[in-house]
Amino acid sequence: MKLAILSRNGSLYSTRRLVEAARARGHSVRVLDPLRCYMRIAPGGFAMHYKGRPVSGYDAVIPRIGTSITRYGTAVLRQFELMGSYSPNPSDAILRARDKLRTHQILAAQGIDLPTTVFGDNPDDTQDLLSLLGPPPHVIKLTEGTQGAGVMLAEKASASRAVVEALRGLYANFVVQEFVAEAGGSDLRCLVVGDRVVAAMRRQAPEGEFRSNLHRGGQASAAEASPEERAVAVRSARALGLGVAGVDLVASARGPLVLEVNSTPGLEGVEGACGVDVAGAIIDYVAEKAKKNQ
Ligand SMILES: Nc1ncnc2c1ncn2[C@@H]1O[C@H](COP(=O)(O)OP(=O)(O)O)[C@@H](O)[C@H]1O
Ligand SMILES: [Mg+2]
Repeated sequence: MKLAILSRNGSLYSTRRLVEAARARGHSVRVLDPLRCYMRIAPGGFAMHYKGRPVSGYDAVIPRIGTSITRYGTAVLRQFELMGSYSPNPSDAILRARDKLRTHQILAAQGIDLPTTVFGDNPDDTQDLLSLLGPPPHVIKLTEGTQGAGVMLAEKASASRAVVEALRGLYANFVVQEFVAEAGGSDLRCLVVGDRVVAAMRRQAPEGEFRSNLHRGGQASAAEASPEERAVAVRSARALGLGVAGVDLVASARGPLVLEVNSTPGLEGVEGACGVDVAGAIIDYVAEKAKKNQ
């Protein structure tokens, strides 16, 4: 297959591993910086140029689009889709996953359990909004945050109200959730490829921290996902339309809850912790799907 990887930097671990895995399987592969792709849009005349030259004829594109370039990156990906390339994660699916509020609505509509979440706009409604959620602690999250950066814990009702008011003042988009104390600062990242969980790792937050993100000092270790966790992870990726996803689950008294579905999961932590060739699994999946797409 002729494959393009949309990534800003070919030396990033995940991009390098995908290139390696594709070459090892005899595919032709090129890394394209999405910000250097530009497009001609006309009926019957979709075209793409890259650094002054036309690009075309890619059987498949693997998007590795960072959150800082979601809009432009998904527009480039959509152009590839319109030109007939297969993508395991279509542009619309990435946009769904980038918004935690939208993700939660889609998952809950499919009967997939998650921390109960509320969302509202007017300050006059804050009191009643928080009462819909139940007593604190509450977790307050920016809807487009990542790596744990926009996630806050409010232990008292007064703290919840204060954070909600402060975020409103900044015109930030956020949701408020029940805090899942049983999780104990730990979550399970399931790497979904197609209809399988190819690797799973447990991430444990450091002492005194509830966020288990590796960027916040979380420790990763290989884990065995239970059949229920696997099923929830695969259903979540499918509900959003993602062929490749990192689904984060927390254990609760009522079973696994989905925290978020990542459309550009990092491979370094999970390959390091589990010793699984996740990049190879992604390439095999994409090659098979691209063949059917022809
Ligand atoms: N409702 C919650 N209850 C308990 N812990 C949570 C909750 N929401 C998030 N966390 C913790 O915070 C981390 C970051 O939250 P997440 O929603 O995944 O945001 P981000 O996109 O920034 O990673 C999670 O991995 C988990 O450890
Ligand atoms: Mg997360």
